[in-house]
Amino acid sequence: MTQASECIDSRLRTGQPWNDMHPEALESMSSLRGDERGMGSMLSKASQVFILTDENVAPFWLSEVAHWLHCESVVDIIIKPGEQHKNLQTVQRIWKTLMKHHADRNALLINLGGGTVSDLGGFAASTYKRGIKFINIPTTLLAMVDAAIGGKTGIDFGGAKNQIGTFAEAEEVLINPVFLETLPEREIRSGMAEMLKYGFIADSNLLGINLENYQSYIRCAGEIKREIVEKDPLENGLRKILNFGHTIGHAIESHCLTTNFSLLHGEAIALGMAAALWLSIKLCGLDEKVLQDFESQLPMLLSEAEIKLSEVDIKPIMTYLVHDKKNKGEKLQFVLLEAVGKPVWDVEVPKDTLRVSLEYIINKVSKR
Ligand SMILES: NC(=O)c1ccc[n+]([C@@H]2O[C@H](COP(=O)([O-])OP(=O)(O)OC[C@H]3O[C@@H](n4cnc5c(N)ncnc54)[C@H](O)[C@@H]3O)[C@@H](O)[C@H]2O)c1
Ligand SMILES: [Zn+2]
Repeated sequence: MTQASECIDSRLRTGQPWNDMHPEALESMSSLRGDERGMGSMLSKASQVFILTDENVAPFWLSEVAHWLHCESVVDIIIKPGEQHKNLQTVQRIWKTLMKHHADRNALLINLGGGTVSDLGGFAASTYKRGIKFINIPTTLLAMVDAAIGGKTGIDFGGAKNQIGTFAEAEEVLINPVFLETLPEREIRSGMAEMLKYGFIADSNLLGINLENYQSYIRCAGEIKREIVEKDPLENGLRKILNFGHTIGHAIESHCLTTNFSLLHGEAIALGMAAALWLSIKLCGLDEKVLQDFESQLPMLLSEAEIKLSEVDIKPIMTYLVHDKKNKGEKLQFVLLEAVGKPVWDVEVPKDTLRVSLEYIINKVSKR
């Protein structure tokens, strides 16, 4: 049943026998939490199973996954794709669909999609009837190595990203690179920037990824995030290192939204990491070669991004940086590196030094 006027489509699907429909492609689903063999018991214990996905993912993967789950009946909830729909209105529609199908506290929600779907679905599940279980099946590279892991859920509100949310862990995060076959390559490159972040903060092996070999490092990247989150789930200290490159990256991302070109998250983070490496050389004694090597990867990461930044953009980007919620009072604080795998956090950076780091990277990318 399609309810186009509500931008949401929910329908009841009656299950097919496992043996008839088992898609080979999904065989190698692997779990980042627990054990994928536990899926069967989780599904059988659920009073009802719902799959949340978006309009881009559904045509490629919804039937495959529904059949792979092999349960009696599943309700599909299909939402509009993209960050602009990561809002309260979409959450309300998910809640309404759950209510319409009389979902009780033992219902299970499966979030099949990128970070937008896992953020929204995790939030809707963790608040519906004070919390129902949910499973993340990420379909973008960024969600496989980052968004689907770690228990942060949320929506955008009042014009600001991720303002409302919960800390709620998915019961399972099931990883399968097969989903990436249908993902546009620009999204892959964006996810690779996030993988390189783990290379800088935790494991230098990840700095060697390229378009040919990145898939074999997905699990390693996801494990790094999971381990960091386990040690500091509420971001009191260590978890901050996951923000490497993100403070400056977010400021660039926000500024670009007001201009005539937009950057994907990973593209903005790539620029943010370049600036953070520059600052790390100046303030923490990082070896210059780390930045030089990263600069040789920037053309690959940014090949589809039409970057039109110049000196005039520095002032508005600085304004976003000064207002970043992670700062303490007037002080600008960053995650920087003493060496690869040796991050330090809460490093105070003088505004003038920060400005010079922005000049440096803008100069670099505008020469491309
Ligand atoms: N909770 C966290 O810890 C966390 C961490 C990082 C990012 N995030 C959030 O994640 C979101 C970004 O996630 P994203 O980059 O995955 O974006 P996304 O979910 O918006 O997906 C990007 C695009 O790819 C499409 N798509 C997804 N999978 C596909 C597939 N397999 N084939 C074809 N198309 C596909 C989507 O429909 C969308 O158009 C942001 O809202 C961000 O705030 C959350
Ligand atoms: Zn990120």
